[in-house]
Amino acid sequence: MAVRRSRVRRILLILGGVFLAVALLVGGGMTWIYAAADVSTVGRVEFRQELSVPPLADSTVEADGTRVFQLDMRSGTKEFRPGQVTDTWGFNDDYLGPTLRARRGEQVRVRVNNGLTDASTVHWHGMHLPAAMDGGPHQMVRPGDTWTPQWKIDQAAATLWYHPHPHGATESHVRRGLAGMFILDDETGPNRDLPHTYGIDDVPVIVQDVKFKGAQFDTGRGLFADIGVLGDRTMVNGVLAPYQNVGDELVRLRLLNASTARIYNFGFSDHRDFTLIGTDGGAPARPETLGNIQLSPGERAEIVVRFQPGERVTLRSDRVDVGLDFFGQRFSGGDDRFDVLELRAAQTLRPSPALPAVLPAAALPTVTDSVRQRDFTLTFGQINNRSMAMDRIDATVTRGSTETWTVRNADGMPHNFHVHDVQFAIVEVDGHAPPPALRGAKDTVFLPPNGTVTLALRFDGPADPNTPYMFHCHLLWHEDLGMMGQFVVVEPGQQAGPPPAHQHSGH
Ligand code: C2O
Ligand code: CU
Ligand code: CU
Repeated sequence: MAVRRSRVRRILLILGGVFLAVALLVGGGMTWIYAAADVSTVGRVEFRQELSVPPLADSTVEADGTRVFQLDMRSGTKEFRPGQVTDTWGFNDDYLGPTLRARRGEQVRVRVNNGLTDASTVHWHGMHLPAAMDGGPHQMVRPGDTWTPQWKIDQAAATLWYHPHPHGATESHVRRGLAGMFILDDETGPNRDLPHTYGIDDVPVIVQDVKFKGAQFDTGRGLFADIGVLGDRTMVNGVLAPYQNVGDELVRLRLLNASTARIYNFGFSDHRDFTLIGTDGGAPARPETLGNIQLSPGERAEIVVRFQPGERVTLRSDRVDVGLDFFGQRFSGGDDRFDVLELRAAQTLRPSPALPAVLPAAALPTVTDSVRQRDFTLTFGQINNRSMAMDRIDATVTRGSTETWTVRNADGMPHNFHVHDVQFAIVEVDGHAPPPALRGAKDTVFLPPNGTVTLALRFDGPADPNTPYMFHCHLLWHEDLGMMGQFVVVEPGQQAGPPPAHQHSGH
């Protein structure tokens, strides 16, 4: 009896020991994974490379006034780090593309040539234009083909951008380098009351996070990183550890989050204030003084920063409060911090005129004009419990009408919501008036878990019952998984056309 009892005790002791060891291993492993999952480059970046500013795209003007651009999608290589040759894609270049620039009222045409071995598209993010020119997944351009969209610029001065949109492959096409800026000016050209000399006191800042595996981009998602691929360092305009020389008291930075998944919270290393003069679709009614601004993938902000002679200050991305729990916050990159761009002021600075007190605000739709309300619920990979189908139209809207869209994130992870063709007004965020950074024209809005935004959108057409526009989460892996839907704009009383089959455009 005593012998058996001691044997039982011994077995229990061994089992207990094994259990403890496994618990320690798992716990330790989790702690290690948790601790290894956050990234900070703050204070650790030696800013060695001068920022390169994407060139302004050449254009020709035809007899009828049409401004014609040429974009060639091609593969190439780039040495982001000395001696390490990375395979890349770009427009007219090895990585990223030139800045297109046009004025309101101008007719533009872009000859898009696909020199890749994969079919792709080029979408004009933030642009109001006919659906067939939008460059979404229905306007695929086959390798070797040229697609030539044409439209009239009919919206306020703004910082827009362009990037591919092939269904299921947007993330990889953008991450390899296919992205560029598209700057719109007013009828009269750049606003002379604001810093406006391109590359001098008006600087494009295309921010992307990146991770390398040997010489190549590391495309693996981290453990628990349901948000998508997060990098461990940032680059601006395709330059790692960049600095920019500043020669003016006031400098405009056109911030574009062209990352596929990362959410930034931009501010400065000395916590100085800056002035917000532009959101996604143009100027807010008046300049807003802010200390930081959050941008999720696809969002833009134009900010003006004041410099003192001889100083250095770093554009930094600080912790983001993405509304997540302890665990989710870490694995969605919310705890990460980056030193993004060092700004080096000259010993003497050119004086800049004071910023105007009011701005030529982009016109915004209002809910009082709204004739229809719709709800969109975001969950992982789906909108309203459906994943994207190329042959299903999810919403039919009437040309000239205003609608109210309520978008709710019913998921445990962050998402955002982008609508093609329009610039919307954010009417409410969680039942309250939007904060200053969200009061201007927007085409992309961030949604933390359980967040709700109410948007007013006006669909000015033209009607095309046969060609849809997209709305989707702009975390590109989510978009690729099917977190996207389609709407068509029709004339009053008109029905949506037959579901579009997969179209290829060419020649
Ligand atoms: Cu920036 Cu539908 O995209
Ligand atoms: Cu878009
Ligand atoms: Cu998402």
